Amino acid sequence: MRFDFDRIIDRTGTGSLKWDRLDARFGATGILPLWVADMDFESPPEVVAALVRRAQHGVYGYTTPMPEYYQAVTDWFARRHFWRIAPEWIVTATGIVPALNLLIQTFTKPGEGVIVQKPVYHPFMSAIERNGRRVVNNPLRSEGNVYRMDYADLERKAAEPGTRLLILCSPHNPVGRLWTAEELERVGDICFAHDILVISDEIHCDLVYEGRRHVPFGSLSEEFLLRSITCTAPSKTFNLAGLQAANLVIASPELRDRYRRTIACLGLGAPNLFGIEALIAAYRHGEEWLDELMAHLAGNLAFLKEFIAANVPRVKVVEPEATYLVWLDFRDYGLDAEALQRLVRERARLALVEGHLFGSPEGDGFERVNIACPRATLEDALKRMQDALASV
Ligand SMILES: Cc1ncc(COP(=O)(O)O)c(C=O)c1O
Repeated sequence: MRFDFDRIIDRTGTGSLKWDRLDARFGATGILPLWVADMDFESPPEVVAALVRRAQHGVYGYTTPMPEYYQAVTDWFARRHFWRIAPEWIVTATGIVPALNLLIQTFTKPGEGVIVQKPVYHPFMSAIERNGRRVVNNPLRSEGNVYRMDYADLERKAAEPGTRLLILCSPHNPVGRLWTAEELERVGDICFAHDILVISDEIHCDLVYEGRRHVPFGSLSEEFLLRSITCTAPSKTFNLAGLQAANLVIASPELRDRYRRTIACLGLGAPNLFGIEALIAAYRHGEEWLDELMAHLAGNLAFLKEFIAANVPRVKVVEPEATYLVWLDFRDYGLDAEALQRLVRERARLALVEGHLFGSPEGDGFERVNIACPRATLEDALKRMQDALASV
């Protein structure tokens, strides 16, 4: 191994959303944070070097992404995902969440419906509701420990008057599914039959466990490409969320023009110059680092599963096919949301993400844990959980 993912790095006092001001945020002291989706690892050394080099230039004026930026993105998707993107399809963004808000504003009117598949990344719902649109839920179905889509329900929801968009989470946060080509084809066929535009949030697409493959929605056919918008970024993959560099892939010139008009109306400009540098370095040189990261995450996942099976077997692990987010089922304990939250925060002194935030009732009794940390941190967290559950 060239990279050490077990080194503990003190992130406190760095303005870290995950690590700073935890007492105030979680109302308890001594909290160990495994909540927000970033990683406790240094980014690849080539990224750090590129940022230092650019910082040392000393001039930080207005920026525009150079052709190398677009080339780095298109090369990455061709190499890692066998998907050929034309540079002109790429529209930069400062993040996927801001982009989702802008997409909703562009492609729907107030009061119109946007389909989501709960339990799902909760800022989808906030973006829809804050913009005065309607959340239309097409809940996932849990079969044993595997989540599947409900196509009959999707068909009904897509047919409802005033439903315009579907926001697909692919791979899915928090249930960790990597949707197959067949599953995605069925979603597309249903949506397109009802003229629903598909926004495919693929921010987790690089974090795929060994032997598996992410299928980009837009790669499935010309129709899928032209009737969808893909959201992507190096931020989850290489731990760059603070640098705010993300991309939309909008192959349809008509959709791209409409989206660009929204951006122009808000006066939004180019991404942060350090984000540009980091993206280029990561996509060009980060592959070996990413492969080792995935090996570390696979080790953490195996450790978590074994620990839980041996010590707290009433907790069920929904095994992710992708992402470093693990969906844990505590329903066997029969605790309501408040009691589960107290147990996690006050007894275990852990910051996880409460399942009901991803949708209620779909996420009730679940917690999402982020395993992108050194093994020792994960072990500490699991022991805290074991001790707290012993008292239930
Ligand atoms: C599915 C999904 N989309 C978007 C984001 C956040 O994207 P950004 O930081 O680019 O706004 C996250 C972060 O956890 C996520 O899980």
